[in-house]
Amino acid sequence: MIPQYILLPLLASYSTAVQISVAKSGGNVTSGLQYGAMEERINHCGKGGLYAESIRNRAFQGSAKYPSSLDTWSAVGDSSLSLQSLSSPLSSALPTSAKVKGNRTVGLSNEGFWGIDIRPQKYSRSFYVKGAYKGEFTASLKSATSEKTLASVKARSKSVVDDWVQHKFVLSPTKAASDTINTFSLTFDASKTSDSSLHFNLISLFPPTWNDRPNGMRKDLMQALKDLGPSYQKTLRLGLVEYMEWCDDLEMEPILGVWAGLAVNGDVVPEADLDSYIGYPEPWKIRYVEVGNEDNLNNGLSTYKAYRFSAFYNAITAKYPDIQVLASTIDMTIPGKAGGDYHLYDIPDNFITKFDMFDSFSPEHPILLGEIAATEYNNGVGVDWSSIDFSLYPWWIGSVAKAVFLGAERNADKIIGATYSPTMLSFNADPDQTVRSTSWHVYSLFNHNHLTNTLPATSPDAFGPLYYVAGHDNQTSSHIFKTAVYNSTADVPVSLSFEGVGRGSTAKLTVLTAPDAYSMNEVGGPNLVHSQTTRIKAGKKGVLSFKLPNLSVVVLKTDV
Ligand SMILES: *[C@@H]1O[C@H](CO)[C@@H](O)[C@H](O)[C@H]1NC(C)=O
Ligand SMILES: *[C@@H]1O[C@H](CO)[C@@H](O)[C@H](O)[C@H]1NC(C)=O
Ligand SMILES: *[C@@H]1O[C@H](CO)[C@@H](O)[C@H](O)[C@H]1NC(C)=O
Ligand SMILES: *[C@@H]1O[C@H](CO)[C@@H](O)[C@H](O)[C@H]1NC(C)=O
Ligand SMILES: *[C@@H]1O[C@H](CO)[C@@H](O)[C@H](O)[C@H]1NC(C)=O
Repeated sequence: MIPQYILLPLLASYSTAVQISVAKSGGNVTSGLQYGAMEERINHCGKGGLYAESIRNRAFQGSAKYPSSLDTWSAVGDSSLSLQSLSSPLSSALPTSAKVKGNRTVGLSNEGFWGIDIRPQKYSRSFYVKGAYKGEFTASLKSATSEKTLASVKARSKSVVDDWVQHKFVLSPTKAASDTINTFSLTFDASKTSDSSLHFNLISLFPPTWNDRPNGMRKDLMQALKDLGPSYQKTLRLGLVEYMEWCDDLEMEPILGVWAGLAVNGDVVPEADLDSYIGYPEPWKIRYVEVGNEDNLNNGLSTYKAYRFSAFYNAITAKYPDIQVLASTIDMTIPGKAGGDYHLYDIPDNFITKFDMFDSFSPEHPILLGEIAATEYNNGVGVDWSSIDFSLYPWWIGSVAKAVFLGAERNADKIIGATYSPTMLSFNADPDQTVRSTSWHVYSLFNHNHLTNTLPATSPDAFGPLYYVAGHDNQTSSHIFKTAVYNSTADVPVSLSFEGVGRGSTAKLTVLTAPDAYSMNEVGGPNLVHSQTTRIKAGKKGVLSFKLPNLSVVVLKTDV
């Protein structure tokens, strides 16, 4: 009896290593677009975020639901501000302007999106004015805390009574502000106007932008996106030109979403009127087009299935047979060679249960994982959309859960790639406070270890708590193993071998962990994701042995 007691624990610990053998052929070629970025007008991803505009509510725009307002604007001096819909507006798209009326030095000032970051650099842009004025305009940046003027510049008026005239300016602060509680103001001498007032619109101020693009993007956020290394970009809300330039700047593949005739309030364009929305011959190179966005929501699915999707699909494929058209949902029978876009906002646990959901899909209809985010803490059920209990930023267990789900990369023949929405950064006005989220670190690690093709991996053990994909990078000839450990009660020992990688071969093992499941990188706070890289050597029969902790995200890359 006694030897058995001694033997058992030894055998048990021996057999706990997950043994994985990876063959040298028989996998599938990847799309080359595994991890992308997605931009939508949520969480200030565009306005107040990537888009470098410093002035909030710059053109007093509104809608039936959110009427125009003077939000974030205040009167300077002894003046009054009012919204006006002039019979000759700046443009039909910008019908509302602000009237500034008063005596002597008056004007208006703006508090920015989250304040305004001021440092020694050039801020430039312009404003539009209407009204007779023979004087000067003063544009300035002020600290709201100290009330000190940090930069100021004068522009001679070219303003006339019956037209909108653009005035450009450049502001050059010589010192940084102590915080971002700063304002931009524009003043004039009302006594030199014909009726003590002037009309203003499209008041705009930009710090230096990425690649110095006029109307461009915030440098720090673009740098973080570039470091993330996304291979494609999907957009819903930026202007098309800004979007294309953004893709050029970061050398990303655009995936264009087109509006498919369903409004958020449920209004649907009738079939007879749909023609005017289809077709716009432009010379950008587009390989992927998605029709609509989440057309399964807002009661849109029945019309999408009945005619909206096929109208776009047929029109696009007739003219551009090489474009991969994607439906904005997979809750339908996808026709022809079209693909679909799958979105998942869920609790971390549900990403694990869905780990293998694409195994049974057909390669006929490639799927984009267009929006993937853990948004709510584990609660044993799923996301409660009526709850306001959503996590402000990604947190570690959610990021690990997503890493597990990204194992959909195993299905390279069916999955185009995965994006995360919204962009994975935490920021405010101050670029020094921008923090890359826990998910940013996961995506970045995976992105910088691209598979050009998957390789078949076999193991006597089922998936869980170790989830993985194996493959090859034909650029570097490296073998790659991406894995995440979720919900294990102890460290997981792994014995991994790649056919063709022999004893003595070396590999780099990068392990991401965080202090606990709830670690979150918050604006202005530290990065809590710990990255440790070690080099390991293959032993007998080329076996690479290592142990991985609970809640870790890992990439092993061999040198050959
Ligand atoms: C490659 O794709 C085929 C067809 O979908 C599938 O049967 C096979 O398992 C895939 N190979 C790997 C390594 O995923
Ligand atoms: C401008 O001054 C006049 C006369 O002092 C005064 O009646 C008027 O209210 C002032 N206008 C504004 C907008 O303050
Ligand atoms: C986590 O582990 C517990 C205990 O082993 C198990 O009951 C549960 O189903 C696991 N959860 C997930 C999402 O794997
Ligand atoms: C590398 O793999 C990609 C597919 O991911 C393929 O397009 C390319 O031709 C391959 N290059 C070589 C040198 O095999
Ligand atoms: C592993 O992580 C899961 C999820 O946070 C947790 O429930 C479990 O207790 C952890 N296991 C250990 C041994 O820490």
